[in-house]
Amino acid sequence: MLRFFKKTPTAPSDLYQRNAPKGRAVFNSLIVKEVRRETEDCVSLSFELPERLREDYRFLPGQYLTLKNRIEGEEIRRSYSICSSPFEGELRVAVKEVERGRFSTYANRELRAGERLDVMTPEGRFTFQPQEQREAVYVGFAAGSGITPILSILKTVLEREPRSRFLLFYGNRKSASIIFKNELDDLKDRYLGRLEVHHVLSREDQGSDALKGRIDEVKCRLFADRFFTAAQVESYYLCGPEDMTQQLRSVLSELGVPKERVLYELFTAAQTGDPAKILKQANVPAGRNAAITVILDGEETHFDMDFNRGSVLDAALDAGADVPFACKGAVCCTCRAKVLEGEVEMDMNYALEDDEVEEGCVLTCQSHPRTDRVVISYDA
Ligand code: FES
Repeated sequence: MLRFFKKTPTAPSDLYQRNAPKGRAVFNSLIVKEVRRETEDCVSLSFELPERLREDYRFLPGQYLTLKNRIEGEEIRRSYSICSSPFEGELRVAVKEVERGRFSTYANRELRAGERLDVMTPEGRFTFQPQEQREAVYVGFAAGSGITPILSILKTVLEREPRSRFLLFYGNRKSASIIFKNELDDLKDRYLGRLEVHHVLSREDQGSDALKGRIDEVKCRLFADRFFTAAQVESYYLCGPEDMTQQLRSVLSELGVPKERVLYELFTAAQTGDPAKILKQANVPAGRNAAITVILDGEETHFDMDFNRGSVLDAALDAGADVPFACKGAVCCTCRAKVLEGEVEMDMNYALEDDEVEEGCVLTCQSHPRTDRVVISYDA
C-alpha cells in the first residue's frame, strides 16, 4: 500500500484530505452548481460548498460521493466517483445514464443547476496519495464511466508528482462515448510526455488491432509487452466491470505484480461475483432470533432480528437507527462496523481487507447474526 504523504504546499482553494481517517460519513443538503453534459448519456455535476462544510468534503483522489434524493416518492441513493482532483478546488462527480437507472436517468434528464441534493461526505479507499519527490510510472485501466476516479487520480499525479508519468488504457464503444475525451487531450498537451492515453474501442476501427475490442487479459499482456514493464509500475488502478477487473488482476499477478500494487474499484458487485468474495451461508434453522445492539455516535439501538431474514443494516434501519449505507452490494464499505460481541456472517465482501475482517469489521449490509446476542459498533 502507498504511504500517506507528508506535505505539499497547496493553494487555499484545494480540497485535499490531509488527515485521514475522517469521522463517520454524513449527508448534507448541497446546491447543484452546474450540470454539464459530457457525452450523449453522461453529465457531470458540481456542488456549491459553503465555507462551514469545506473541511467535511475534503477528499482523496479516487473517492466517491453518495447522492440521495426522493424520486417518485421513493428514497434513492447512488454512489458516484469524484472526477475533479482535490487541487482544482471543486467537487464534481460524473453520472452516466444506465438503462432503468432511476437516479442516473433523473440526473441526466431532469436535474438542473440550483436544485438541492443530499450529498454524503466523501468515502472510498480506491485512492492515491502523492509524494512530490517520487519518480514513478502509474498505469490505469478504465472502461466507460470507470474513468471517473482514475481521472481524479491521474490529474493528481500530473499536478503533484512532477517527475511521474501516467499511462491510461481506456475502453469505450466508440469515440463519441468517450467521457472526458477533450479534458484528456488537454492534459496530454499540458503535461507533455507525462500522460499517455490509449483508447480501446469495441465498435470503431482505429486502424490498430491492439486498440480494437474490449480491455481483457489478452490486451493487458499486449500492452505490458509494448508500453510498460509490469514490475516497474508503482501502482495499477483498475475501474470497470467485474469481469474486466478480475482478468486484469489475474494477468498482472502472473506478470509478477504484487497484489498490493493493484488497486481496483468495481461498478457494482456482479450477481455471480468473485467466488473468493462470496462467503458461505451457515445452515441455520428458520425462526431463530438474535438480540442485536447497534452503537452509533455513542447511542445504542436494541432490536431483535431473525437469523436468516434480511441484513443487520436493514434491521437497524427498520428499528430507527440512522446507520450509514450506500450501495447495499458489498462494494462501497460505507456500512462498515465492528462486531464487539457475538458473531455475524457476511454474504459477500468486496470492500474489506483480510486484516480488517480478522479485527472483527463487517459490512452490515451483508451481515446476518450467528449468535443469540450481537453488539455492533459503527463508532469503533
Ligand atoms: S452499503 Fe456499500 S458495502 Fe454495505
